[in-house]
Amino acid sequence: MNTYMHNLKDTIQQLAKAQHEQIIAIRRHIHAHPELSFQEHKTAQFIATTLQEHGLAAQTGITDTGLVLHIAGQNPTKRVIALRADMDALPIQETNKVPYKSTVNGVMHACGHDAHTASLIGTAIILDKIKDAFEGTIKLIFQPAEEKSPGGAIGMIQAGVLKNPAPAAILAQHVSGDIPAGKLGFVKGPVMANTNELSITVHGKAGHAACPHMAVDPILIAAHIIVALQQVVSRHIDPITPCVLSICKIDAGTATNIIPEVVHLVGSVRTSNEALRDKVKEKITTIATGIAASMGGSCEVKLLEGYPATYNDPALTERTIQAAEEYMGKDQIQPVDLCMAGEDFAYFAQAIPGCFYFLGVQNKSMGIDSWVHTPTFNIDEKVLAFAPGLMAWLAIQELQHGGGGS
Ligand code: NI
Repeated sequence: MNTYMHNLKDTIQQLAKAQHEQIIAIRRHIHAHPELSFQEHKTAQFIATTLQEHGLAAQTGITDTGLVLHIAGQNPTKRVIALRADMDALPIQETNKVPYKSTVNGVMHACGHDAHTASLIGTAIILDKIKDAFEGTIKLIFQPAEEKSPGGAIGMIQAGVLKNPAPAAILAQHVSGDIPAGKLGFVKGPVMANTNELSITVHGKAGHAACPHMAVDPILIAAHIIVALQQVVSRHIDPITPCVLSICKIDAGTATNIIPEVVHLVGSVRTSNEALRDKVKEKITTIATGIAASMGGSCEVKLLEGYPATYNDPALTERTIQAAEEYMGKDQIQPVDLCMAGEDFAYFAQAIPGCFYFLGVQNKSMGIDSWVHTPTFNIDEKVLAFAPGLMAWLAIQELQHGGGGS
């Protein structure tokens, strides 16, 4: 290891600091011009152009709007590590009063994907400047459509982004309005839940409200099903295993004096692993159909599977935590709990060892503490002074010292 390598961390930190204003400007441009999932054409163009201005040629048009950039160090085939950022915005009207407020009505970067993308562009610029200082190749993936099922990750994998060359591991960051800016959150094992849309259609027999004995009331059946489904989590799932079932919409009826024929219930089911997803589905079906039948009606249960649960490979995550502690200082790293939201990074982490970590962006003194997916979500942009360098450092450490997955 030469002196340059010894000082590599300092060099990266200085490069990251020096480009801070530039990365803020990139983030603000993306923030002001948000695009919905699978429509990120201008965003993709902007990423490609910005990288080009720094002499970096990304492959574009991967599943339409995705991009991939390889930064080859010395001995490029030695080991490959992938980094991923998502690019899409949400159908939310921004209410922040900031100069870089969304210019698109009803569309907003309310999940921080603008920051993820800007940060990964910053990582690319840094890595290119220090490519003589590491061995192997770093593959940067700009992925569309994280927010909308089936998501952009699966398409990019099918398009071959995990081949030629094949990465040994993949890292991604996600902003968190729960963690103070400057800190990072890590969890080993399950980090995000799987997401499933539950739909139950209850069939009865329509009738006059005055003659319920002549009808089969599907509203009463639905009410019993809703109450009974609460036992799926509380009585059938190991209490130390995260699982949530919420009925979020009920559709039925037309008037005060008509017993309807049909009731539609929809909701969300999330678990922390795939085996549990199947068990929950089976329990919901057994309970709902049993109750409907016992009351003279019938019902159909559908569980539309969304993203799988995201699993952080424990060995990779341990190495990434150690590298993050070296870069940030030990007191800046904190453990976090599994989050019951979903993430299509899950598909990458199913294919190869993955580590998905949280970048704290909260700053209460600046009034920045909204949750993601809210109209007031924002980030403390001071994190953009280190986040791009951190990712470069993590990738290089994993190239140099990484082993396998768990
Ligand atoms: Ni997000």
